[in-house]
Amino acid sequence: MSDAPFSAGRFPETRLRRTRRYEWSRRLVREHRLSTDDLILPLFVMEGTNGSEPIPSMPGVCRLTIDRLVGRVREAADLGIPAVALFPVTPPDRKTEDGREAVNPDNLMCRSLRAIREAGIDIGLVADVALDPYTSHGQDGLVRDGYVVNDESLEILAEQAVVQASAGCTIIAPSDMMDGRVGVIRRALDAAGHDGVMILSYAAKYASAFYGPFRDAVGSAANLGRGDKRTYQMDPAAGDEALREVALDLAEGADMVMVKPGMPYLDVVRRVRSTFQVPVFAYQVSGEYAMLCAAAEQGWLDRTAVMMESLLAFRRAGADGILTYFALDAARLLKETAP
Ligand code: PBG
Repeated sequence: MSDAPFSAGRFPETRLRRTRRYEWSRRLVREHRLSTDDLILPLFVMEGTNGSEPIPSMPGVCRLTIDRLVGRVREAADLGIPAVALFPVTPPDRKTEDGREAVNPDNLMCRSLRAIREAGIDIGLVADVALDPYTSHGQDGLVRDGYVVNDESLEILAEQAVVQASAGCTIIAPSDMMDGRVGVIRRALDAAGHDGVMILSYAAKYASAFYGPFRDAVGSAANLGRGDKRTYQMDPAAGDEALREVALDLAEGADMVMVKPGMPYLDVVRRVRSTFQVPVFAYQVSGEYAMLCAAAEQGWLDRTAVMMESLLAFRRAGADGILTYFALDAARLLKETAP
């Protein structure tokens, strides 16, 4: 964005429709562009072999077994997508009150990371840090007397980060919203010899109803039941607080920060971008994807057009990159239109 003094000009000397007249002149003056380099693809992995399970609330998205996952990751890499974010569907009998499966070096997540690394695919691997895929209550941290406790949760979250880094992830993405987690995770990674592993912090993550389909996808919806995450994820009414969250995470060693959800929070993306000179990401979450797909299935919206328009809107708001379930479709389209 330019900081030059604002000059609107005056009619009739100035006619903003002039440069809009031709396809080539629109291209020539275009301010923002979407590139495949801006996309991160979230993927769901499940136990088994040669399996794929559609997720009804996320049309076009499937849970994949590790062997199929590797193929999908290769496809993403071949299209030029820089990174994928993995989310495990933990079998119910592996979920416990304390979420210990999170730190099992042979859990589904770690086996997936190793399989992708062993396949020699050159792509960034983003691993979430939070306990919700592993806890019987579906919360992101440890629960004591009905409350998600902060400092005690930090220990297991740091251990989870180290276990995932050892399995081959290159970006740790803490999504748990405990206070102080970025610092604790950074120190634990460094102490374990993983000083090169990046941290993409879910810095401004809101307690949003737009995560519903994701919780169906990873099978944590039933665990969470009527519970919610409002005592640690941000209140949707907060704005300034997002800047404090980002500032703290940067001070603790985050390399990149994220705002989540995306479209309903583009004002937050813009404020973070304008305040900090750091890489900013936005997550177009499951509910946003579901809304657009559902309307497209009804014939009410043009799927391709709203996909590209929504992704471009993230760029205009100031996001360097977007986590989106549309990543493969968008990358294919970008390849066709600008090979
Ligand atoms: C886990 C996590 C969630 C999402 C990403 N990591 C769900 C939650 O916080 O309940 C949501 C992603 C989406 O909705 O697409 N902490």
